[in-house]
Amino acid sequence: MAHVLVIGGSGMLANTSRWLLEQGHQVSVVGRSEEKIRAIAEEKELAHLLYPIVVNYRNHKEFQEKVTAVAHQLGLAEKVIAWVHQPEEAVIDIVCKEALTSHGSFFHIVGSHSDAAALRTTTPVPETVDYHLIQLGFMIEQERSRWLTHVEISKGVIEAIRKKEQRKTIGVVEPWERRP
Ligand SMILES: NC(=O)c1ccc[n+]([C@@H]2O[C@H](COP(=O)([O-])OP(=O)(O)OC[C@H]3O[C@@H](n4cnc5c(N)ncnc54)[C@H](OP(=O)(O)O)[C@@H]3O)[C@@H](O)[C@H]2O)c1
Repeated sequence: MAHVLVIGGSGMLANTSRWLLEQGHQVSVVGRSEEKIRAIAEEKELAHLLYPIVVNYRNHKEFQEKVTAVAHQLGLAEKVIAWVHQPEEAVIDIVCKEALTSHGSFFHIVGSHSDAAALRTTTPVPETVDYHLIQLGFMIEQERSRWLTHVEISKGVIEAIRKKEQRKTIGVVEPWERRP
């Protein structure tokens, strides 16, 4: 049973976290609200696979202690899915050093404004780790455009995990002037 760690997995990525549970993984989810994390496993039969890591990741010391503790309990994670608000380098560095196996996979979810081309070199993920970059875009529908829904975001992330896509944009980021 693989351990998968999801940072920010109780918001727009809640369906992604639930899907990982349905695949039979042990899923640890980082967030400040334990209630929001517990709500991911609505079905009682999934709840035993869910491990809340209730912490503010801006408190780096506490974040480090808690991810280290869960890695001791479940083993190092085979995958990390990370949705972290800027600045994110310290958070990513801690999770890679303390909780991700050296040949594991790192799925980095970034917003539309991120400089995706630069991120592979600036993100502190070890060379041995399989790095995947997923950028959130927007949807253009005839005359209008809109931001992605949570359902679309999780669907896209799940697809990227299933297909092991190295680089993916959910929706579009071009033409940038058409953004909502
Ligand atoms: N297209 C784009 O580029 C783009 C980019 C960004 C956002 N969006 C949209 O904007 C919406 C709002 O974004 P959002 O980031 O608020 O999404 P969210 O995914 O709904 O919430 C953020 C997630 O990270 C956790 N979190 C946030 N700060 C944390 C902290 N300091 N420590 C630990 N965990 C933390 C939250 O749990 P807790 O609150 O319990 O801590 C939650 O699980 C999204 O729903 C998305 O649709 C779109």
